[in-house]
Amino acid sequence: MTQDGGLAAPLVFALAPHPVHEPLTQAVQGEIGTFVTRLFPDGESFLQITSEVAGRPCVVIADLSHPNGKYLPLLFLLETLRELGATSVGLLAPYLSYMRQDCRFHPGEALTSRIFAASLSQHIDWLVTVDPHLHRYHALDEIYTVPTAVVQGAPVLAEWLKAKRNLLLVGPDAESQQWVERIAEYSGHPFVVGSKERLGDRQVKVTLPALDYKDRSPVIIDDVISSGHTVLECVKALKKSGMKHIQCAAVHGIFANDIDEQLLAAGIDCLITTNTIPHRSNAVDIAGQLVGPVLSFLK
Ligand code: R5P
Repeated sequence: MTQDGGLAAPLVFALAPHPVHEPLTQAVQGEIGTFVTRLFPDGESFLQITSEVAGRPCVVIADLSHPNGKYLPLLFLLETLRELGATSVGLLAPYLSYMRQDCRFHPGEALTSRIFAASLSQHIDWLVTVDPHLHRYHALDEIYTVPTAVVQGAPVLAEWLKAKRNLLLVGPDAESQQWVERIAEYSGHPFVVGSKERLGDRQVKVTLPALDYKDRSPVIIDDVISSGHTVLECVKALKKSGMKHIQCAAVHGIFANDIDEQLLAAGIDCLITTNTIPHRSNAVDIAGQLVGPVLSFLK
């Protein structure tokens, strides 16, 4: 609250530079939050917040790809904002990590999705994210104990694909079906969904149904490209079926070990992602979709 009883303008911090930082700050009529951070020689973090945060709601933007190195610095920022008197501290995680180990697939495995969610929930008042990998969980509140809002990447990807002609959308596996179906519905392109067997972190087998669409350009659709092997195998299967001019569109591009280079070399003509994770493939801007959900928590 301000002295005249109005709502204080939010401060919007970014753990690391992120393309949605400025547009989102403007859209919520906030101010960019500032802090300095560095590593001590022993590898520990130093962090100092240089904005006046007392009495103001704060938003922290952090894409949580490669999360292990980001998590402690994030906690230091979130907790320091609280200690300095922020009225609320929300997290906008355009990519939310630790969602895929949603099951104890083998005895003794850590259920990292649940442990991560329980830990992060202790440090935030709300969470906004884009297409978390909800597969065996149906909603974030199954594991997060704070209010959450989920933004869908499908509409912006569909908008990008709508303008193009003669496409066939291809989901590599059952998990991708929800995205492919939604994008097909918005964009009007036909779709097929394959099946995938995961044999290891970087080893998968993708099988596609018979393709009667030889006159169309296939666009592989997935929520996340991580090791890239799902897409790579899908490209091989499409080529085997005689398909040409293969494209790929994903919500989140992690591209571990610069796999994007290999994907292009394998015959993908066009590789696009939304800007949830900063990358040169970011052709689709998600910033506008994030404003409403963030504002709903700031009121
Ligand atoms: C899960 O099945 C997802 O929808 C993606 O297909 C998967 O996470 C991609 O992983 P990777 O790029 O490592 O094959």
